[in-house]
Amino acid sequence: MLLLAAASLVAFVLLLYMVSPLISPKPLALPGAHVVVTGGSSGIGKCIALECYKQGAFITLVARNEDKLLQAKKEIEKHSVNDKQVVLCISVDVSQDYSQVENVIKQAQEKLGPVDMLVNCAGMSLAGKFEDLEVSTFERLMSVNYLGSVYPSRAVITTMKERRVGRVVFVSSQAGQLGLFGYTAYSSSKFAIRGLAEALQMEVKPYNVYVTVAYPPDTDTPGFAKENQTKQGNFSSSIGSDGYMLSSLTCGMAPVTSITEGLQQVVTMGLFRTIALFYLGSFDSIVRRCMMQKTKSETIDKTA
Ligand SMILES: NC(=O)c1ccc[n+]([C@@H]2O[C@H](COP(=O)([O-])OP(=O)(O)OC[C@H]3O[C@@H](n4cnc5c(N)ncnc54)[C@H](OP(=O)(O)O)[C@@H]3O)[C@@H](O)[C@H]2O)c1
Repeated sequence: MLLLAAASLVAFVLLLYMVSPLISPKPLALPGAHVVVTGGSSGIGKCIALECYKQGAFITLVARNEDKLLQAKKEIEKHSVNDKQVVLCISVDVSQDYSQVENVIKQAQEKLGPVDMLVNCAGMSLAGKFEDLEVSTFERLMSVNYLGSVYPSRAVITTMKERRVGRVVFVSSQAGQLGLFGYTAYSSSKFAIRGLAEALQMEVKPYNVYVTVAYPPDTDTPGFAKENQTKQGNFSSSIGSDGYMLSSLTCGMAPVTSITEGLQQVVTMGLFRTIALFYLGSFDSIVRRCMMQKTKSETIDKTA
């Protein structure tokens, strides 16, 4: 009986997971929209810019290195869907000086019109044990990953609210949902984005401005951008089944975009928490085993 109930629950969860893309809100209307992508010269940011461009958007790429920006612009321009489309490049450090960031966003708006969607993708990761990481690493990661998302968002939000249209996307990480060994500096900077996004969503929702937090896993494939596009109407954008489980587990007081999403979270919470406890036990045992192996090899080295 218990087995049957568990099997029905799993089947229901799977069904909800499968039908959710059909029920979730539609992607933004991108043809003609002005999309600013920070970190748009490389990796995930470049893929997102490319996907938006393929859907007819005008793109502003923001990053520091001018050569990489121009290279990305050339790659993206090969995929134009009409001859009016423009890819603008802006070189600026998004984490240093708010007035500089505000100025470049103004320049971009003068050239391509008000920003319809901002994707905060500029970021970096450095891993190491807490006591081995320089204090400056914590400052740097918080500055690039957190303030580097605050500054561009702050620069576009007033116009979005005035126009009653816009979306701000924050690129966090699965390490922004789950603290992992070696990621004390990175995880905290990515967790901070979640708090910023939740509070901001509450403020701007009445103005028809929406916020999305993307939680990419530890991979970088062109397929990521496609999946991200189909989920951009949601507050939480996760990738794959691991990402789905993490997003349900860590939903807390995060807003929901549809009744289905809320229902999924309610139904799956207990099951996913049970699975998570097994994961946590396994992570703890890996860390303990590695520590014991390290201590053993240090003892052998000392006695040799
Ligand atoms: N790759 C993954 O496995 C993964 C997983 C989860 C989350 N993420 C997150 O996804 C985002 C993109 O990651 P990625 O792997 O695609 O990185 P990437 O290939 O290294 O690209 C990073 C981009 O950000 C720009 N950038 C870095 N610091 C900047 C700054 N201070 N000001 C302006 N631009 C800056 C870089 O250009 P310049 O260096 O020229 O400035 C580059 O365009 C990051 O936020 C990362 O934390 C990545």
